[in-house]
Amino acid sequence: MEVIKTIALLKKRVKKAKLDGKTIGLVPTMGYLHEGHLTLANEARQENDIVIMSIFVNPTQFGPNEDFESYPRDLERDCKLAEPVGVDIIFAPSVEEMYPTDGGIAIRAGRQSEILCGASRPGHFDGVLQVVAKLFHLSEADRAYFGQKDAQQVAIIQTMVRDYNFPLQIRTIPIVREKDGLAKSSRNVYLTEQDRKEAPAIYESLNIAKEEYLLSRNVDKAIELAAKHINEKTNGRIDYLQLLSYPDLKSVTDETTHFLLATAVYIGKTRLIDNMIFLNKGVIQHV
Ligand code: PAJ
Repeated sequence: MEVIKTIALLKKRVKKAKLDGKTIGLVPTMGYLHEGHLTLANEARQENDIVIMSIFVNPTQFGPNEDFESYPRDLERDCKLAEPVGVDIIFAPSVEEMYPTDGGIAIRAGRQSEILCGASRPGHFDGVLQVVAKLFHLSEADRAYFGQKDAQQVAIIQTMVRDYNFPLQIRTIPIVREKDGLAKSSRNVYLTEQDRKEAPAIYESLNIAKEEYLLSRNVDKAIELAAKHINEKTNGRIDYLQLLSYPDLKSVTDETTHFLLATAVYIGKTRLIDNMIFLNKGVIQHV
């Protein structure tokens, strides 16, 4: 496994791979790897000749009062975890390497970014699209891998790829969870012991909302019951908790066949997100 920090060297390796007729799988991450990231890498390993994992805490997707500075970083640890799953290249550029100039041209996420995380984090998805578009170009990937943990992110990236004809395929994996249901996240390291005990209530609440919706077909009642569970089981604060159609992320109607239940909850100081996609009869689906 090779760790590459410059765009020039990455392009050199990519050019050689392409000349040799090799396929490339890209796994974009912000590092502090856990099993979710490694599952993505594993999937990429099975489907491509070369696996490139990017590790870059992207400043343009963080708001001014968010955790860009304190976001956990440990490249050495990440390398030890990535090598055994078969990552060939870790691309870990500096901020200056990724953003040496600013010509003032912006990529703006569309309507899908006006709700859920996009509503609480203005500009977040614009920053995600900016970095992902650059990584797609630099890696010349045939396939790029994303987790359903960030279902809204996947939906928005898929729209950009479709509408702007990016020549690659987006592949997805289901959410990887701890035994008690908590979705794995690099931010889980922020949780205190008490926070960690409370955090599984987030996933429990999604299951409660799903069951209630399938029973009553009443969106408000389903959300109310789920919110009650979070409020009773945690000291957390709900940022949002919604049931929408997927992937268009609109209000549920009688015609809706794919449902997205999505939530963001502050447990202590940590903002955790989770979601579930299911079909009309309740079958859990992955994007
Ligand atoms: P990051 O939060 O590091 O996540 C990298 C990838 O891992 C994303 O596709 C995310 O959905 C996936 N992932 C994280 N936790 C997961 C889990 N528990 N189960 C399955 N997949 C999981 O998402 C980002 O970074 C950034 O926004 C990025 C796309 C790299 C752009 O900067």
